[in-house]
Amino acid sequence: MSQSLLLLSYLIGSITFILGLRMLSKPESARRGNMIAAAGMSIAILATIFLYINPENHEHLHNYLWIFGGLIVGTILGTYAARTVKMTAMPEMVSLFNGMGGACAMLISVVEFQSDGVPPLIKMLVIVLGAMIGTVSFVGSMIAWGKLNGRIKDRTIPGAQIINFILFAGIATLAILVVGGYVEAPAYYFYGLLMLAAIYGALFVMPIGGADMPVVISLLNSFTGVAAAFGGFLYNNPVMLTGGILVGSAGTILTMLMCKAMNRSLKNVLIGSFGGQKAAAAGAPKEKGTYKEIPINDAAVLMAYAQKVMIVPGYGLAVAQAQHTCHQLETMLAEKGVEVYYGIHPVAGRMPGHMNVLLAEANVPYEKLLEMEDANDLMSSINVVLILGANDVVNPAAKDNPASPIYGMPILEVEKAEHVIVNKRSMNRGYADIENDLFSRPKTSMLFGDAKSVLADLIAELKLL
Ligand code: TAP
Repeated sequence: MSQSLLLLSYLIGSITFILGLRMLSKPESARRGNMIAAAGMSIAILATIFLYINPENHEHLHNYLWIFGGLIVGTILGTYAARTVKMTAMPEMVSLFNGMGGACAMLISVVEFQSDGVPPLIKMLVIVLGAMIGTVSFVGSMIAWGKLNGRIKDRTIPGAQIINFILFAGIATLAILVVGGYVEAPAYYFYGLLMLAAIYGALFVMPIGGADMPVVISLLNSFTGVAAAFGGFLYNNPVMLTGGILVGSAGTILTMLMCKAMNRSLKNVLIGSFGGQKAAAAGAPKEKGTYKEIPINDAAVLMAYAQKVMIVPGYGLAVAQAQHTCHQLETMLAEKGVEVYYGIHPVAGRMPGHMNVLLAEANVPYEKLLEMEDANDLMSSINVVLILGANDVVNPAAKDNPASPIYGMPILEVEKAEHVIVNKRSMNRGYADIENDLFSRPKTSMLFGDAKSVLADLIAELKLL
């Protein structure tokens, strides 16, 4: 009876994962999807704790102190971290959490390796693969976390590709020796393999440019999923297997989508870096073009008397934490009869869906958020585009300049609109570290200042109209 209930809970867990994942693809259902998948996971965990029977000794789990101790500590730490994290620090938190997943998968393999008796060939293969991938994911994620929060600096390692190749060959050799049972004391070789995998994980992530980190984190996320799936295989646990496979495939798809949105290959992300070799090859920084500024009251008047305004948010909006003020401006314009839209570029900000999450936090209605293609279709009917802390995602070089590192990346074609107002603090570059000609084009006016204070000033001006 308890085994049937356990299987039922796993079925519920698997179905809720799939449903949750499906719901994550739309902003309006994402929050609910997350809750549903988390509820399914909780059911599967609790069922395992209370219903699982060990086939070897026919006993239930009994080490409740350790299990619930871990659950309580993890819940407290996780809740605190998730509640206090700043939106701009979200990618590093994802990386940290992902690293923990990799570490768990690695530890499962270590425990299974140490369990009594020599495991059969297939089991040993799964143990070794889980340990290897879990370790790379754990160490790589921790390095990514350190790089994102500035504790670890970007570093080019001379001959990194050759070193990585040698490491990989070493790991493969040790894996064959351990799995094939060719060595007397496999433990030495197994732990040697773990060490090499840890060095490989560090060297693999270390040279990657800070800006490419979210892509790498997504890739490491898929590694963790695969390692967890190996854990599910070891424990004959269907829900862990399903969850691992889903995370593995979702991570891979997300990695590919991010590369596509930046118009770069995964190889280019892993070997080259935006603003690194490529920007240097494209030439030294050009002189900053001339630009015109717009006074705050003129900007307010332009928007207040427009028929349609499109707000283009970018990383700077997240830095300024100006999402609530932005929503306030949008509401005021709407009250004046202006149709307001948001043009959302898929890689605006620093993590997938960054702008959607940011604006959802400020309760901006989802139907106002237009995906890039829809925003571009509407662009020629827009009177004023207000760019808030975005740079690369509106850089016309992506369309016009074949020598540019971002050439080919789809952008929001803001120049199709009547007027373009750009808010940023200076003429500094964006993430790709390249000049943006948009700022000196005839339709463009600059509105310098921190996004939050500029938006507050615009609101104050609108109140006077
Ligand atoms: P960016 O190109 O990074 O430009 C952001 C601009 O915001 C900067 O030029 C900065 O100029 C301005 N800014 C910073 N703080 C501000 C503040 N407090 N108030 C007003 N403006 C502020 O941003 P984007 O257009 O969103 O493009 C995103 C970039 O990140 C792309 O290159 C993309 O490929 C890359 N990327 C994205 C992701 C994902 S998944 N989203 C992942 C990896 C890489 P000032 O300093 O002059 O103010």
